[in-house]
Amino acid sequence: MAAPVRHRHRWRRRLGALARFVGALALVGGIYTAFAPGIYADEPKQNFDKLAAEGKELFDNSCVSCHGKNAEGVKGRGPSLIGVGGAAVEFQVNSGRMPMAKQEAQAERKEAVFTPEQAEALAAFIQKLGGGPEAPDKKWLADAVANADVASGGELFRVNCASCHGFATGGGALSSGKYAPSLRDVPTDQIYEAMLTGPQNMPVFADNQLSAEQKAEVIAYIEYLNNDRDPGGPFTLGRFGPSTEGLAIFLVGITTLALATLWIAGKS
Ligand code: HEC
Ligand code: HEC
Repeated sequence: MAAPVRHRHRWRRRLGALARFVGALALVGGIYTAFAPGIYADEPKQNFDKLAAEGKELFDNSCVSCHGKNAEGVKGRGPSLIGVGGAAVEFQVNSGRMPMAKQEAQAERKEAVFTPEQAEALAAFIQKLGGGPEAPDKKWLADAVANADVASGGELFRVNCASCHGFATGGGALSSGKYAPSLRDVPTDQIYEAMLTGPQNMPVFADNQLSAEQKAEVIAYIEYLNNDRDPGGPFTLGRFGPSTEGLAIFLVGITTLALATLWIAGKS
């Protein structure tokens, strides 16, 4: 009779140990779930705040003279940047348009003064101040452009962009000394940001007019034209399209005919 009692004791001890073990696990798990999600959820926000603080420093050094201490704008020097969004900042800074060197009719693309990381910091500062459209995620954009329907992009380009930028992306003049620049060698993220923010005389193509996927299609078409050395003619002639090629052929032809006529007249 002694053996079963001992057995029962051992059983009780084991059950007790198991209960303590489960209890300890639950406690550790509880503590973990109480703190861990908070830590992870705060991380991106803390990084963003740090980035925005870096951006503010750059802004104070390079942009306040024209855009004001709190980006509220300075009359006659630069517009308010509140609500323009990070996309506008990354477009302007990465394309070298900003910081603007001098007042001119149209800020031009030039060598960027800041690195892409600094542009991102400036963007975070402006985003934090007033919201607005954000720059696209680079990985998403690369995938979307790689998988986009180029033919559909071509149709969208002809309807929405060709009137200003030309059928072959060569660019074109607008009224009062302004112009739509050539779209050759513009990085994909800047094309996206240009559509999203509509710099200067360019209209804004918000997502309800041209969805994110349609923007990727337009970009895929522009890339396709840029990678294609021969956009539908023997010479690119500034990529203004078939009309410049026609003009060139006309001029060369007329000159040849005139010379031939003179030669025949001289012989007789
Ligand atoms: C010499 C004056 C000047 C300086 C310096 C300057 N800007 Fe500008 N900025 C302008 C003017 C003028 C415009 C409006 C005309 C234009 O877009 O070309 C403008 C436009 C912009 C826009 C476009 C706003 C919109 O509505 O889309 C952004 C974004 C911008 N600036 C950011 C910056 C940043 C960031 C800096 C500092 C790195 C900076 N600018 C420095 C004068 C300046
Ligand atoms: C009404 C004329 C107009 C239309 C339509 C237009 N744009 Fe523009 N675009 C402009 C002007 C003007 C600029 C120059 C803005 C500046 O310098 O700040 C520009 C600038 C750009 C740039 C920047 C180029 C560079 O050198 O940095 C890109 C990219 C661009 N446009 C793409 C497009 C696409 C894509 C479409 C069609 C979805 C389009 N644009 C439709 C007038 C237009």
